[in-house]
Amino acid sequence: MALQIRPLAPNGFGAEVVGADPTLQLDDAAFRQVEQAWFDHSILVFRNLAMTPEQQIAFTRRLGPLHIMVPLQYNLDGYPEIFVVGNAEEGGKAVGMRRAGMGFHSDGEDKAIPNAGSFLFGVNVPPEGGDTIFADMYSAWDALPAALRDRLAGKRARFSRIELHHVHYPHLPALTEEQKRDRPDVWHPIARKHPRSGRTALYIGRWAVEIEGIPQEEGKALIAELCAHAQKPQFLYRHSWRPGDAVLWDNRCTQHCATPFDEERYTRRMHRTTLEGEQPLLADLAA
Ligand code: SIN
Repeated sequence: MALQIRPLAPNGFGAEVVGADPTLQLDDAAFRQVEQAWFDHSILVFRNLAMTPEQQIAFTRRLGPLHIMVPLQYNLDGYPEIFVVGNAEEGGKAVGMRRAGMGFHSDGEDKAIPNAGSFLFGVNVPPEGGDTIFADMYSAWDALPAALRDRLAGKRARFSRIELHHVHYPHLPALTEEQKRDRPDVWHPIARKHPRSGRTALYIGRWAVEIEGIPQEEGKALIAELCAHAQKPQFLYRHSWRPGDAVLWDNRCTQHCATPFDEERYTRRMHRTTLEGEQPLLADLAA
């Protein structure tokens, strides 16, 4: 059956893939259609999937090499390619990372090679709460005042897990010296060129702490302003999860943010496969 790609909004941010096999074993033509739709719409929503871990891994691997999340403790037993998010427990032990994605970010923004994309499958979802909100960073860049775009052109931001780990993960142990050595600060272009679409996205997020060439306090204030700008309602899609949903997003041109749910009453268990990426490209704004 031919797939249908139904845009979620008039501006084309996000689309639902209709008619896919629930195990996502797609023939080459259908797979190419999905891949192109991903580049066109930045996030793709699938409904009513029934994927095994092997099938989720196999589908994601067709999009590119897979990234193994560390520390390994949150990865699914026997499937290191699957990072488990949520409050599920087995035998009294947490199987995934709680409150993993609170605060707008893109996956791997604090790493030298951030992740190209992520594919999140709702294995158990609460009947209320626990939505994921996505921001369209192409539109966020395009909507910045021209003078601010000019000011940011060619500039990079410093992203620091070391400075902000305790802020974003107060419920987790502090980073060890070894973890700090493994996660040094990184600098990425704020105007980021997408390698496939060629479009420019605003690349900033919750781990950003400094902008080059701008005094530190002023840079922090500008980061806060850019983050607030990206979170304006006109750039957002909010996904309310139903069992069997999965969302594929492109970290190079979107941000996302998990939202709370009643952890005493409900179990939320999400399986995420994550794509390796490339060094972020600086957009050539003179072109
Ligand atoms: C994530 O940030 O990868 C997880 C998002 C979510 O749990 O909604």
